[in-house]
Amino acid sequence: MEDKKRLFSAIQPSGILTLGNYLGALRNFRLLQEDYDGIFSVADLHTLTVRQEPADLRKNTYELTALYIACGIDPERSVLFLQSHVAAHAELTWILNTICYPGELSRMTQFKEKSRAHEDNINVGLMDYPVLMASDILLYQADLVPVGADQKQHLELARDLAVRFNNRFGETFTVPEAYIGKTAARIMSLADPSKKMSKSDANFNGFISIDDDKDAVIRKFKRAVTDSGSEIVSREDKPGISNLLNIYCAVTGKTLSEAEKEFQGKGYGDFKLKVGEAVAEVIDPIRQEKNRLLQNKDYLDDVLKTGAERAERIAYKTLNKVYKKVGLLQRKR
Ligand code: TRP
Repeated sequence: MEDKKRLFSAIQPSGILTLGNYLGALRNFRLLQEDYDGIFSVADLHTLTVRQEPADLRKNTYELTALYIACGIDPERSVLFLQSHVAAHAELTWILNTICYPGELSRMTQFKEKSRAHEDNINVGLMDYPVLMASDILLYQADLVPVGADQKQHLELARDLAVRFNNRFGETFTVPEAYIGKTAARIMSLADPSKKMSKSDANFNGFISIDDDKDAVIRKFKRAVTDSGSEIVSREDKPGISNLLNIYCAVTGKTLSEAEKEFQGKGYGDFKLKVGEAVAEVIDPIRQEKNRLLQNKDYLDDVLKTGAERAERIAYKTLNKVYKKVGLLQRKR
């Protein structure tokens, strides 16, 4: 067990998760925890960088915890915990802030985008977000971090900070690598296949939420934008059909050519219905299991308690080392 590489990942409890989040991240965690020493976190502190309704944040935190478990994260095998339950995340952030430069943070693409989207709330935390993320990763001496394209730049900063600290104070942090899984199909909007599927899509028909029931899923696929012509093939001039084929393959495990063959000579209507059904078949049991788990908050609180205790042991080992290295006195115990 000890020679397994350590993998760290976190998701923000900021509301709706889409089919894209599921296929791109959550779905893989179940298998990754078999091969790696997995640490999975609900990044609740990160969500505070944009304004949250406290009651919604509480609800979303339980939702995401339950969803992790419903997707197959086994809380006995892996560590599953809330970021805010382990104070070391905030503490290491302070130390790393002292070796990080404002220019490194102000040029982050996500910071610039979020500053534009939340012009009335460009707070220090929004800028410091990547340093908190670096702390998440470095506290656990993670070897691997599965990240989507939008988080690559942040992981790069975590690596830079690890190297910078190690150079200045001596070997302390493992320098994490990005884990690039089996090329997760890029899931595009059902309403506009030139855009990534996103929960912030103003058009609700553009994305599938994990919370959509079977009827909603099928309805959205029926409305999905297709292309001119009638052939069901994956081709550059057919972004709508290509996206649907990608989704179909991702949920069924079929190859593209198998799928193309299956739908040869079929109409768009039949095809869209089949894709909708296949997606619902995958999502429905997860939603139901998540909702079942949500009935039992006591169980979820217990899982998070155990998770925090296990995470804390690892995190404070690292933090104590860091404090010592920079010259902070050890407190007498
Ligand atoms: N910022 C990540 C996201 O929004 C979530 C996250 C927080 C994370 N801490 C992390 C991801 C550490 C990987 C590692 O997707």
